[in-house]
Order: sequence, then structure tokens, then C-alpha cells
Amino acid sequence: MVESARQPQEPQNPEELYRYLLDRVTNMETRNLELREQLRQVESDKRYVETQKIRYEREVRKLKSEIEQLRSPPLVIGTITDVLDNSRVIVRSSAGPRFLVRSSMCIDPEKLKTGVRCTLNQQSLAVIDILPESYDTQVYGMEVVETPEESYSDIGGLDVQINEIREAVELPLKRPDLFDRIGIEPPKGVLLHGPPGTGKTLLAKAVAHETNAHFLRVVGSELVQKYIGEGARLVRELFELAKKKSPTIIFIDEIDAVGASRTEATTSGDREVQRTLMQLLAGMDGFERRGDVKIIGATNRIDILDRALLRPGRFDRIIEIPLPDVQGRTAILRVHTRKMRLSDEVGMEEIAALTEGKNGADLRAICMEAGMFAIRREHESVEKKDFLDAIEKITLDFDRQRYSGSYGAMFA
Ligand SMILES: Nc1ncnc2c1ncn2[C@@H]1O[C@H](COP(=O)(O)OP(=O)(O)OP(=O)(O)O)[C@@H](O)[C@H]1O
Ligand SMILES: [Mg+2]
Repeated sequence: MVESARQPQEPQNPEELYRYLLDRVTNMETRNLELREQLRQVESDKRYVETQKIRYEREVRKLKSEIEQLRSPPLVIGTITDVLDNSRVIVRSSAGPRFLVRSSMCIDPEKLKTGVRCTLNQQSLAVIDILPESYDTQVYGMEVVETPEESYSDIGGLDVQINEIREAVELPLKRPDLFDRIGIEPPKGVLLHGPPGTGKTLLAKAVAHETNAHFLRVVGSELVQKYIGEGARLVRELFELAKKKSPTIIFIDEIDAVGASRTEATTSGDREVQRTLMQLLAGMDGFERRGDVKIIGATNRIDILDRALLRPGRFDRIIEIPLPDVQGRTAILRVHTRKMRLSDEVGMEEIAALTEGKNGADLRAICMEAGMFAIRREHESVEKKDFLDAIEKITLDFDRQRYSGSYGAMFA
């Protein structure tokens, strides 16, 4: 040992020898302890490395199987058109032709139904798996996930209309028992109509805010599609999704884009729009009960809507949202000036009296312009003069006489 080489020569004196030996024994004991400690350490290291090894091996196996899966040939997507028995089905592949194929044993026979989508092996076209139902991504895009901010308190001067829409849409969703007791079927939907900017879209948003039903929002023009049958399919999927997620409110804004009166259409585009409308009509009364699905439509051209759309049973309530009168305008101005700092001399009634013929959107713009004037003039709060200037500015900016002349002509 190196240590012993360094040791001085063994002492001759017995006492010294004894001490010397004692010393060495203690040394060796400590050394022994150290080595034992080391051994324990090394053993635990070994165990750790072994578990690590097992983990890596598992990972390698997983990655190998993943590679295997990625390498496997793609599956063909098809639709089951007929089920002969549990192992033989007729499928239509996405390419078109129909085949009689076998289905995998792993598939639950319950799930083998006509109309479901499935994956097929590329060579034998055997049914490998059943796919979940799918809707057009566009339909999913219509679902309003975040509820709108607007509530009934943000709407001015439409108390009667708010009440009507609450009765027709909110009440059947919240208290269906009331309708059962009286023995009437709850209204299926409402149609809001009136001049532009009077708060139709706003009202629908408020309904979405106040009920915690799912809200699907579509703009009529979105339902007009490029290819034949696509629009109708979209409408069908829209209703299916609505039913699945019920309680649901479907809000079709600017419904005149698809709901225009059917005439002797000449272009194929017109005919496609009509097909979409027919699907909409069918969806609205449908053979089966629609469940808790309510429809709100909004338009400012009720005069051109198809008569079929207006008959009871489709939109059970037709609510007119008129241009606001003086009281209505006062209420709307109150809503929009709620957060503004006004000087004491400003009276809403007075301003409402000066804005004859203005709609809600105009009034909102007037409030905003008044605020802008106040900022420009560095006022502490918005004064009456700011409002008067704003009214003048809005009237000049939007000369209603000039536009209303050409308004009807566009559709002529
Ligand atoms: N009754 C009202 N109370 C408060 N604000 C209103 C009211 N009516 C309209 N507004 C204001 O005008 C804006 C536009 O209104 P909205 O989008 O509801 O009009 P619309 O009736 O749907 O018009 P269009 O027929 O052109 O679609 C709203 O965002 C709101 O700020
Ligand atoms: Mg609107």
C-alpha cells in the first residue's frame, strides 16, 4: 500500500508499537467505512442507470412503432351506404364507386350504420375504423364562443321589442314548463325587421348575452356558396349542429341575402340561392321537432322576403324595430352618454328633440363626435355646443335625402 510505504519504520519499543498498531487499526477502520459508503453510492448509481436504461428502451420501442405507423399507407375515407350483416357492408369510397367489403372485427357492430364515415384499407377496402361525425369547418366558425358584451341595458327605447323577444326566445328555453302547462307550442323563432341602424343586430347580441344558450351566428350571404348544393349542405349542417348543442339560438343576420322572394330565376346562381332557401325552410319546420333550437332572423328588407319564410310556423313572431321616436332617442342617447363626462347644461330630451329621423347608429355617432369636439376644444366636459355641432356634422356627413333616393333603385 502507498500509505504503508510512507509509514516510518516500525517502532521497537512495545508501548510505541502498541500505539502505532492502534493508530493503524483506526486508520483502516475509517478507510473501511469510506469504502463501504462508496460502495453504497456506486450501487445506487447502478440502480439509477438501470432504470434509465429501461426508460430509454421503452422510448425507443414507442418511437419505432410511431415510425411504423407513419410509414403505413394512407387509409381511404368512405361512407357506409348499406349494412348487409355484421361483417359485410357496402361502402362508397371518396372517389365515387361503391364496393361490398368486410369490416374489421374490432368495430362495434352498433356503430355500423348507413351514412357514417369510415376509413378503408387501401387494398382490400375493408372497413378499419369508424370516424366521428364531422361538420363543415365553416359551420364551426359560426359558433359564438365568447358571449357578446352587450346586454339589454345597452339598448335604448326598445322595451316593447325586448319584451317580445324575451317571451319568444328566452322564456321557452328557460321555462318550458309554462308552455306545457298551458298546452301551446312555444314560438320557434322571431324575425326582426326595420330600417338600418336601429339595433336589430344589437338586440340579438343582447339575447345571446342574457341566455346561456349556444349561439350560432350566420350572415345570410355566408350561406350562398359557389358550388351547387353546398349552401344547402351548410344549412343542413348548421341545423344539425344546433340540435346537437341545444339549447341553441341560431341568428341569421341579413336574411334577405338568401330569403329573397323566389321568382322565375334565370341564372344558375339564383337557382342555387333558392335551393339554399328551400333547405332553410325545411330546416325551420322540419319533420322532427327542432328541440330547443330558436331562430332569430334580422333584415331591413322585409318587403322582398319570400312569403313562405314569413308564414306562422317559421318565424312565429315578426317584430318591427322602427326608427326611434323622441323618447326612444332620449333613451338611446342616455345609453351612449352613460360613460361620458357631460356638463350640467346638457339635457338629453333637448338633443333628442333636435335629432328627428336619426337612428340608433347615428345617435351613437353624434355622441362620439360631440366627445371629439370637446377634446378638440379642450373642454373639461362635453357641452351643449359640442352636441349641436356634432348633430350638424352628422347631418352633413350623411345626407339622408341623397341616399334614400337611390336606396330602392339598387334592387330594382
Ligand atoms: N336602440 C338602440 N340603443 C342603443 N344603441 C343603438 C340602438 N340602435 C342602434 N344602436 C347603435 O347602433 C349600432 C348599430 O346597430 P345595429 O348593428 O344593431 O343595427 P342594425 O339594425 O342591425 O342595422 P342593419 O339593418 O344595417 O344591420 C349599434 O352597435 C349601437 O351602438
Ligand atoms: Mg344588422
